Amino acid sequence: MSSNSAILHLRAETKPLEKRAALTPTTTKQLIDAGFKIYVEESSQSTFKSEEYEKVGATIVPEGSWKSAPKERIIIGLKELPENETFPLIHEHIQFAHCYKNQGGWQDVLRRFPEGHGTLYDIEFLENDQGRRVAAFGYYAGFAGAAIGVIDWAFKQTHPDSEDLPGVTAYPSEAKLVADVKKDLALALAQNGGKYPTALVIGALGRCGSGAVDLFEKVGIPEENVLKWDLKETAPGGPFKEIIENDIFVNCIYLSQPIPPFVNYETLNVPDRKLRTIVDVSADITNVHNPVPVYTIATVFNDPTVPVETSAGPKLSVCSIDQFPSFLPREASEFFSRNLVPSLLELPQRDSAPVWVRAKQLFEKQVARLN
Ligand SMILES: NC(=O)c1ccc[n+]([C@@H]2O[C@H](COP(=O)([O-])OP(=O)(O)OC[C@H]3O[C@@H](n4cnc5c(N)ncnc54)[C@H](O)[C@@H]3O)[C@@H](O)[C@H]2O)c1
Repeated sequence: MSSNSAILHLRAETKPLEKRAALTPTTTKQLIDAGFKIYVEESSQSTFKSEEYEKVGATIVPEGSWKSAPKERIIIGLKELPENETFPLIHEHIQFAHCYKNQGGWQDVLRRFPEGHGTLYDIEFLENDQGRRVAAFGYYAGFAGAAIGVIDWAFKQTHPDSEDLPGVTAYPSEAKLVADVKKDLALALAQNGGKYPTALVIGALGRCGSGAVDLFEKVGIPEENVLKWDLKETAPGGPFKEIIENDIFVNCIYLSQPIPPFVNYETLNVPDRKLRTIVDVSADITNVHNPVPVYTIATVFNDPTVPVETSAGPKLSVCSIDQFPSFLPREASEFFSRNLVPSLLELPQRDSAPVWVRAKQLFEKQVARLN
């Protein structure tokens, strides 16, 4: 190995239904071309096949083999390690660990790293010099959320209010999803006299918001039907009548400070409400300042919507899935991994490359909280 390379070991995801991957065949090739050695675990749930990685030069190893891999391999994955495992971690790990914000059980998750003299580089906190995350899944969260929003709205045009949108399953490609949403839209337009839905996206300038706006455009909803709001438009403070005046509302804000609600039961309970579908991508359900306080559960792909209890107006549903990007695992992984690659290419210099130095300092600061 030259001093300009590193050895990465892509571990198989174990979280149920997680089909995404931190490295894709495309980004694996980029890293191999740059001199990296890449091991990829066989995975029963990944959207990518072992052969795709093998074809670009990765070495395929058994699922779970990272546990006994040589210490110099950097273990890369996406989601948390299984909670029932507690052995000390000896490697450097790149992943989302969800243990820096006092999440339930954070100490048990974090403690394993210092116990084994391992290191956690948490992807959620890998930031560039401007303080912006280097890689995130937001774009495809908004894209998928808006798609399910249109699907639900279209379903309501063609089905009685007694029926809820049936379960949805992940798509092999963005093109197939867009084609299917267009089909649903065409059926709905045939029922309602050809009127495209209107939508309001709040947080439209962010990652999730821009994905939502792009979905609406790709399925053919006229641009003038999509209202794009961000901080400027919500500055006066909610609730906002514009929400109930549109068919679909997509909330994509990053909630970082107390704000008045965007909607509440009072504004929803009016007979002339147009709004039929809320997609809450932000889904700050447990936050006391949740700007969409009209439902209480995170929905799931198997049962994507929950009805809002209203006393006036047409049926209204919320879709609040907390893993929207898994709806398009291939594109979401490619998008995410592509953004991660420039930082991964700096791994050989991780003792001096700012993105890795900051991540390690943060890890050490968090570990210090354990004591
Ligand atoms: N449900 C899911 O599967 C899923 C997946 C990824 C991200 N998310 C969540 O989506 C949210 C947004 O993530 P992101 O990556 O797009 O963030 P981001 O920082 O890229 O974008 C957030 C946008 O919201 C805007 N904003 C913040 N407060 C606002 C307000 N009061 N009014 C109007 N606009 C406001 C910001 O200006 C910014 O443009 C986060 O809470 C994130 O955790 C959910």
